[in-house]
Formats: sequence, C-alpha cells, structure tokens
Amino acid sequence: MKTVPASNRVPVALGDRSYEIVIQPGILSQLGQVLQRAGCAGRVGIVTNPVVNQLYGHPVQRALRQAGFSPFFIIVPDGEQAKTLKWLAKILDALVMQRVERQDFILALGGGVTGDVAGFAASTYLRGIPFVQVPTTLVAQVDSSVGGKTGVNHSQGKNLIGAFYQPKIVVVDPHVLKTLPSRQWIAGLAEVIKYGMIADKEFFKYLEQHVEGLRAQSDDVMPHIIRRCCEIKADVVTGDERESGRRRILNYGHTVGHALESWGNYRKWIHGEAVGLGMVQEASMAQYLGMCSKDVVERQDDLIKRVGLPNAIPKMKFLDLWQAMQHDKKVVKGDIHCVLPKRIGDVSVVPLVRDSLRKWFSIQQPSSSRATTGLRKSPSPSGSARKK
Ligand SMILES: NC(=O)c1ccc[n+]([C@@H]2O[C@H](COP(=O)([O-])OP(=O)(O)OC[C@H]3O[C@@H](n4cnc5c(N)ncnc54)[C@H](O)[C@@H]3O)[C@@H](O)[C@H]2O)c1
Ligand SMILES: [Zn+2]
Repeated sequence: MKTVPASNRVPVALGDRSYEIVIQPGILSQLGQVLQRAGCAGRVGIVTNPVVNQLYGHPVQRALRQAGFSPFFIIVPDGEQAKTLKWLAKILDALVMQRVERQDFILALGGGVTGDVAGFAASTYLRGIPFVQVPTTLVAQVDSSVGGKTGVNHSQGKNLIGAFYQPKIVVVDPHVLKTLPSRQWIAGLAEVIKYGMIADKEFFKYLEQHVEGLRAQSDDVMPHIIRRCCEIKADVVTGDERESGRRRILNYGHTVGHALESWGNYRKWIHGEAVGLGMVQEASMAQYLGMCSKDVVERQDDLIKRVGLPNAIPKMKFLDLWQAMQHDKKVVKGDIHCVLPKRIGDVSVVPLVRDSLRKWFSIQQPSSSRATTGLRKSPSPSGSARKK
C-alpha cells in the first residue's frame, strides 16, 4: 500500500488519546493495511447493520482478511432503535461469546447510530478495548465519528447514556456516500454548511462555488470538504474535549433544530434537515437582534436552498417552539443559550430572552404571534440579547 499522503490525514491531538482521521476515495479496499499501520491487531468484531452489511460487509471483510485479521460480524438493526441499552447488551453478549480480549478491537461500519453504540460498547467491554470507526454516512464522516462522543438513547431522551471514548483511527472513504439515499446525503450537507458558518468564511465561499461538484459528489470536491469539516471539528473538540466551552459552537442550528425535531415527533424531518431549518431561524434571530447583517442571512439561506435542503417551517405556535427549545440540553437555569452568527465564519453563544424572541417570532408573521408559516426574513434589527 502506498502511504496515505499527509494532505489526506487529519490529526486529532488529544495527548495519549490522539488519533488520525484518514480520508481517501477508495481506501476501503486497503482497510486492513491502514489498520495494521495504525497498530491494530488481533480479532476484530465488525459492528454494522443489515443495510450497510449488504453493501460493504464483504469488501471490508476481504480487506481485513488480506491483512491477516480475523473478522466476525455483530449485526444491529437499521435506524435509531439500535442505539438502546438492549442492543448495547447484545453487542456485549457477542463480544463475550466470541471471547474477545483486550488486544482485539471493535470496528464500527456504518452511520452515526452504529458508531455511537459500537463506540460505547468498546468503552465498557473489559473497561475499554480499542475501537475503529469506518463511517459510511456524511453525518458520520464529518460529525459523529470525530470527537469521541459515544452512547445510546433512553426512553426519556436521546443520548442520555454514554461516554467520551476516542477511537484508535477513523477511516473515511468518500466513495461509500454514493449509495446513500439522497435525503440522507442532503441532510448531512446541513452540518457541512454549519462548519463554514461557525468557523471558516473561506470554506463557506468554497461551498458556494462548488455546489455542482457537491451534487455530483466529485472526487475533486468531496475529500476536501470532508477533510475541512473534520479539521474544524477536531480543532474545536481538542480545545474542549468534554464540552464545557468552545465546543458549544458546534450546536449552531441545533437549538431550534432539536426543538423542531421534537415538535415533529422525530418523523417530520431527519436531523440534518432540522439543523438546516434551525440555522435559517437562528440566523434570522441574529439579524433581528442586531448581531449580523442581512447579507449573512441571505447567503446562508441561499446555500441551504441550493443544496436542496428544506428552508421554511410550517405553521407553529410560538409557545410550542419556545417550550420545545426549553428541552434542549444547553438550557442553563431556564435561560436558552443559543449559538448565533455574527458574520459568516464567526458565532457567539447568546442567552435568549423570551419576550425578545416572541417579538421576533411575531414579526415573521405579522397577523399572529401564535401561528405562522415559512419563518424566513428578519426585517428589523432590535430587541435584546445578552451576549457572552
Ligand atoms: N457522536 C456524535 O458526536 C454524534 C454527532 C452527530 C450525530 N450523532 C448521532 O448519529 C446518529 C445519526 O447518524 P446518521 O445520520 O449517520 O444516521 P444512521 O446511522 O441511522 O444512518 C442513516 C441511514 O443510512 C444508512 N446507511 C449508512 N451508510 C450507508 C451507505 N453508505 N449507503 C447506503 N445507506 C447507508 C443506514 O443504514 C441508515 O438507514 C444519531 O443517533 C445522532 O444522535 C452522534
Ligand atoms: Zn447535528
């Protein structure tokens, strides 16, 4: 195997838990050698779901065997139902049955769901065994496989049980995204646009200029985009591994996004779509509060629309939105802390004041502050927000 060039590797510097994200089209066929070089050895339990297994199970197994590994599969269900204590227990059962030892490792092959549950299993089995991520959705490649958050859901809420646990290596093959359902693919682009908004105006401009390459998933565009997103996320999480400060900027679009997901009973929009809508709403709030210019809102709206994401929300009551926002994990002593844009590439965490938000909401739909459609433009900068 040729050495993977430095330009295709993103280091995540976390002291003795440091690791690399390797991004290269077609790298799946060399997976075994890449893992060998990363110091992986022994037996490997591949955690995956039936959809991804059908598409990539064989090639991955072959690549691992060629390098002398002895893989076995642990199949979890497709979808969020795999992120439960029940399936965590089943993965642990399989590891016990297979007599997996400390020098062996787990490989998560799939989207964010598979990565989250497999990583959590790796963190608890024998008090922690090595763990490798091979993310196969855009969300997993640019977001969930970076940063070390693992876990499962509880019936009372998402991601309530988990651990911070870093992988040994993340191996990203952009080619696997070609089989993603288009809705999943487009939803992932909301997180990509988010990185431009929170940290890098040049990257945002690059996205504006490469919508066609993005739509075509070109090999010239995709590796660059995935790498830049991973670099930004790695930069943010290495400064704040356990989410006490700067890491909060990654939640841009998520305060309203999570509220919309919950309001729509997690059926109306998939996560990335809700985040895209959340960014549209939060930028509009920022303009209303005098934090950013109209140009910022318009450029973001335009890009969101051009990549095919939904950008308008249906009728809803202010109180429903406000209450759903209260359930966000980032609420501190009743104050909703929201990440709002100042410029493209720069955001601030701001506590939102209910009255001010209500005014913003009513201006979106002058006839009523209780029901509104297509919340988009923010005509008048005023109101108050306590900036941090
Ligand atoms: N740990 C973190 O930091 C973090 C960050 C963001 C999201 N998450 C979590 O990630 C999950 C969402 O991840 P997701 O969006 O990847 O969803 P997912 O894992 O459910 O995958 C989406 C769908 O795509 C299918 N799929 C996966 N790869 C495919 C491929 N290459 N071709 C065809 N189909 C494929 C899956 O089977 C699934 O049906 C949520 O549970 C969320 O909480 C975690
Ligand atoms: Zn997200």
